[in-house]
Amino acid sequence: MSILDKVKALVHHEAPAPALELHDIQATILFDRPDPYFGTHVLLRFDSAAGGRALLARLAPHVRSAADAADNAEAWIAVALSHAGLRALDLDAALLDSFPAAFRDGMAQRAERLQDYGPNAPETWEAPYGSGQLHLAVSIFAPDETSWRAAMVTAHEQFAGIAGVTVLGSHDFGAQPDSRNSFGYRDNIGNPAVEGGTAPTWPGQGRPVKAGEFILGYPGEAGVPLAQPGPVQDSIGRNGTYVVLRKYHTDVAAFNRFLREHGGDAHGQELLAAKLVGRWRSGAPLALAPERDDPELGADRQRNNDFTYSKDQEGLRVPHGCHMRRMNPRDSKLAILTDVNLHRLIRRSTTFGPPYRPDLFEDDGAERGLFFIGLSAKAPETMEFMQQEWINHGNFIDLADERDPIVGQQPDGATFTLPERPVRRRIHGIQSFCTLRGGEYLFMPGLRALRRLAGNQA
Ligand code: HEM
Repeated sequence: MSILDKVKALVHHEAPAPALELHDIQATILFDRPDPYFGTHVLLRFDSAAGGRALLARLAPHVRSAADAADNAEAWIAVALSHAGLRALDLDAALLDSFPAAFRDGMAQRAERLQDYGPNAPETWEAPYGSGQLHLAVSIFAPDETSWRAAMVTAHEQFAGIAGVTVLGSHDFGAQPDSRNSFGYRDNIGNPAVEGGTAPTWPGQGRPVKAGEFILGYPGEAGVPLAQPGPVQDSIGRNGTYVVLRKYHTDVAAFNRFLREHGGDAHGQELLAAKLVGRWRSGAPLALAPERDDPELGADRQRNNDFTYSKDQEGLRVPHGCHMRRMNPRDSKLAILTDVNLHRLIRRSTTFGPPYRPDLFEDDGAERGLFFIGLSAKAPETMEFMQQEWINHGNFIDLADERDPIVGQQPDGATFTLPERPVRRRIHGIQSFCTLRGGEYLFMPGLRALRRLAGNQA
């Protein structure tokens, strides 16, 4: 436990965790997606306020609450709106203005803060991202194909026949059999534990983070709730959260070529793949399995996240610059001090496209990638912080301008540093492996707020 955590533990020791209003909180905030999983993101536009409201009223009874999510045996539906969507519902101007600036602006307008330049710039994005037309995202998560198709029928019944609503696009996702993403890694392992949450917790998640960091209306790490839209007493934000949605295309052929060029034999290539992320593709963390993969460990939720970096401050096992250690430095000694728990996101990312192909060295034209989905009560600000400080820079870990090897946008001649003895190894010429195809900042309302939005009582 860091000194800061100890002080916090003392300060908050006496304050009992407030009971979470689980029946009002969308299941997606507190519960992992199923594993393996099937699903679809449907993107919609409200052509009229009446149409938008009618759709929300129809969808509301089908949106899963955290109280009903104790098991993942069935498919569930989640909904989130952009600020443009809230505007299209003709909400009161003062209420619209009370949302945080980043969310009001929308992701495309924040490109400079997000450092979404060049191939990642909004001008290159797929429709409807960045056009202001994406008003509502409806996501269906399912543990099997049958329940996925059934939930899709339910969702489509709600869209059907409503004047004033347009379906802009629909994107299937999923990973079977064991949740491997498009680079072949098991993912969705490391996520924060939320204080008062009822979802299972896993060894290594660390001290549960105050619920208010992730759900509006509850005390956060500083002991008070984060800013909410509208009047505090009756906030439309209560039990809601913000969502960062970023659709990444993954260049699997370039990734494989990089491993082949710099990894040596088959074992060396897998080790380099592990060094880039901090985990072997099986999910086994380098912190616990530094030299050889251990697939049993990788699949074991009781063990696969149960580590810290305290005994590896030099980064000999887990490079400081690898994706996972950047995105959650845990107890690493950082060159720029920060409270890591203030920069956590709950990840609900979903993989799309054909499975990873280890034999791919020339682009096969297939769209493989990942919808990065991060949730918190200040998710847009956290994403902007991460892009500026932890993804596209290395000062916080004494790596100057070195970038995240997985999601960083690499300039020509970029490097990836592997601490080794007697001297570190620096690989030159790492390329960008992910390109942003679009994204949006969304608000995921509580269920009561959803009904209020539907009934024009916001
Ligand atoms: C295509 C893009 C991405 C890929 C392929 C990817 C891949 C991975 C993989 C394989 C892991 C390790 C497994 C796990 O702990 O779940 C991981 C962990 C993680 N990633 Fe990503 N990721 C991507 C984008 C992002 C972005 C944009 C962010 C944040 C802004 C992010 C934040 C994290 C975090 C917080 C962890 C967990 C770290 C921990 O708790 O130790 N990822 N990612």
